[in-house]
Amino acid sequence: MIDLSKLAEPGSIEESLLERIDFKRMPRHIAVIMDGNGRWAKSRNLPRVEGHRAGIASVREIVETAARLELGVITLYAFSVENWKRPRYEVATLMLLLKEYLRKELATLMDNNIRFVPIGRVDGLDETVQRELRYAQEQTARNTGLLFQIALNYGGRAEIVDTVNRIMALLREREMSDAVIDEAFFSDHLYTANVDDPDLLIRTSGELRVSNFLLWQIAYAEIHVTKVLWPDFRRRHLFEAIIDFQARDRRYGGVEEADAQMFIEADENRA
Ligand code: IPE
Ligand code: IPE
Ligand code: MG
Repeated sequence: MIDLSKLAEPGSIEESLLERIDFKRMPRHIAVIMDGNGRWAKSRNLPRVEGHRAGIASVREIVETAARLELGVITLYAFSVENWKRPRYEVATLMLLLKEYLRKELATLMDNNIRFVPIGRVDGLDETVQRELRYAQEQTARNTGLLFQIALNYGGRAEIVDTVNRIMALLREREMSDAVIDEAFFSDHLYTANVDDPDLLIRTSGELRVSNFLLWQIAYAEIHVTKVLWPDFRRRHLFEAIIDFQARDRRYGGVEEADAQMFIEADENRA
């Protein structure tokens, strides 16, 4: 059971937002493009890395909130394959902040029964980063609550190409090189094998693009873009995104039940 008292103070904005959420229709998987750290810092005349540092507080709050909401999965986009283009100092600081976060937050992840899994070309990261990631993943592997995926050295196209190569190697090994594969088989060999696709994709800082994130998996995700910059993104903004999501009509290429019924009745009248 979701403990609402852990999500909002009495009389707060959060409480009034929570009242608008239908807990029977929650997204199972929320993916987030955490963007706007640099602009947040710039608007305060601070170096960009201070925006990344401030963004950690948002990560902490959103992951904990996702666990308290009893979501199945949250996936945060932390570092793309394209982000290596940034100044060396910025990349180094991001990696340092990641290690710091993992060391400090492991206890909280354990307390909240959260399973932590990095996705992306993890083997392309510095060995010291890989070690921290492995440790956090191993320590939390038997937790049964929220699955927290962090996308690092991640690219949607890279994932698709890696998947193709993985499948080709597998088929060669099984001497099945002329096998025909289908979508389900392909999905089962992505970094996110066995994880439901995101229902809701959030992007902060107002940018209207997907920046190479989960290209395969977001085929039918609802997209919520907010102008809020990542370091300012708090629990209430997550609630707003969920309320927006619940107002959407997800048709998956079909029509609404009521509209389908109208056509059936019209057909019957004609007959
Ligand atoms: C997102 O914030 C964090 C990462 C991509 C690591 P940015 O650093 O992209 O911030 P802006 O977009 O420059 O404001
Ligand atoms: C996307 O943000 C990558 C992450 C959030 C890690 P970027 O800031 O790198 O994306 P663009 O450059 O605006 O497309
Ligand atoms: Mg950005």
